[in-house]
Amino acid sequence: MNPTLDAYNIDDLRRMAKKRLPRGIFEYVDRGAEDEVALRHNTEIYRSLKIKNRVLKDVSARTTETEIFGRKLAMPFGISPTASAGLVSEGGEVGLARAAARMGVVCTAATSALTSMEEIHEAGDENLWFQLYMWTDMDLTARFVERIKAAGYKTMLITVDGPVPSNREYNYRNGFAMPLRYSPRLIAQILANPGWCLRVLAPQYLKRGHFRKVNNPPELASKLTQIDVETSYTKPAAQNWDDVKRVRDMWPGNLLVKGLQSAEDAVIAADLGLQGVVLSNHGGRYLDSAPAPLEVVPEVRAAVGDRIKILIDSGARRGGDIVKAIALGADMVMSGRPTLYGSAVAGEAGSYRALDIFKSEMDRVMAQIGVNRIDELGPHIFWNPPAWVPVPSRN
Ligand code: GLV
Repeated sequence: MNPTLDAYNIDDLRRMAKKRLPRGIFEYVDRGAEDEVALRHNTEIYRSLKIKNRVLKDVSARTTETEIFGRKLAMPFGISPTASAGLVSEGGEVGLARAAARMGVVCTAATSALTSMEEIHEAGDENLWFQLYMWTDMDLTARFVERIKAAGYKTMLITVDGPVPSNREYNYRNGFAMPLRYSPRLIAQILANPGWCLRVLAPQYLKRGHFRKVNNPPELASKLTQIDVETSYTKPAAQNWDDVKRVRDMWPGNLLVKGLQSAEDAVIAADLGLQGVVLSNHGGRYLDSAPAPLEVVPEVRAAVGDRIKILIDSGARRGGDIVKAIALGADMVMSGRPTLYGSAVAGEAGSYRALDIFKSEMDRVMAQIGVNRIDELGPHIFWNPPAWVPVPSRN
């Protein structure tokens, strides 16, 4: 197989994925909430920042490598948790974990994956993390955390930005609202895409049966046709920081919270003794008037200093975006859609291609701006930056 897959950037993979997926599934992966203001802004903000080229600096020894929690990474990048990899390619979560291990980056297995956390763990390496949704019933959560520990995960992030379901009007229009109903509209989309039926649907049913949130504890329903994934079990309006404290007390590994976007909340996370935060607006899928995580990195860094790791997701589509985020003070960048597009195009090879694109773009941009190591990145790389970019301490 041609390893480039004839895709030269993430947008190529997106276009190819669109052709290979039924419309409802593609939109579920690709779209945001309400008017999709946050979705668009997440990528536009990266593009709006200009960085200066620097010439005649020896950049022959440059590397994109870094470390997180004592583990080496090929670049400061991680695959965000997503529920849908198993819908875009058969056992898609396993392909994501393998691609990440091969590249040497973080991958996060999701509570709502369609593949079991144990099977995903087998496919990954020490940079495979777990994403937890705390169940409404915290005793059930406690038992679930025991299972995550027993599976071998060492780093966990708790997603906390969905106290209530989000508003995705297109899902009602395209027939992909949960619980899934085999409506004439959905069946027509599936039949219009016989390739997906052969590649994903048939092997799924032959090997694994119904699409199911297989990690759900036996007490909870798990078929996509049974449950409303947007409301059941994982959108507990009453949850609060005491619940996070409870998980912290039972989890010996690194613990992060994902989905916050304010210095106030990051300080609470640091005071609770967590190891990090993932600043995220959930890829523009929840609060449509949220800022882009990139814009809040400087104020969060100013508030927490080096007490915790600051990771961000939402919107990175180019290796240069990783450079910009790190220069603003992030420790690592996460993204979910690019490797899912890749997964839809060619399973593990497609996810790997997405990672390879990010890495080669990042490496090239580092050379163009005269940087050999990521710890040389800082606000001095920006040309004519907006007011929210910190003033550089050196030039
Ligand atoms: C779930 O996390 C979603 O964004 O659909």
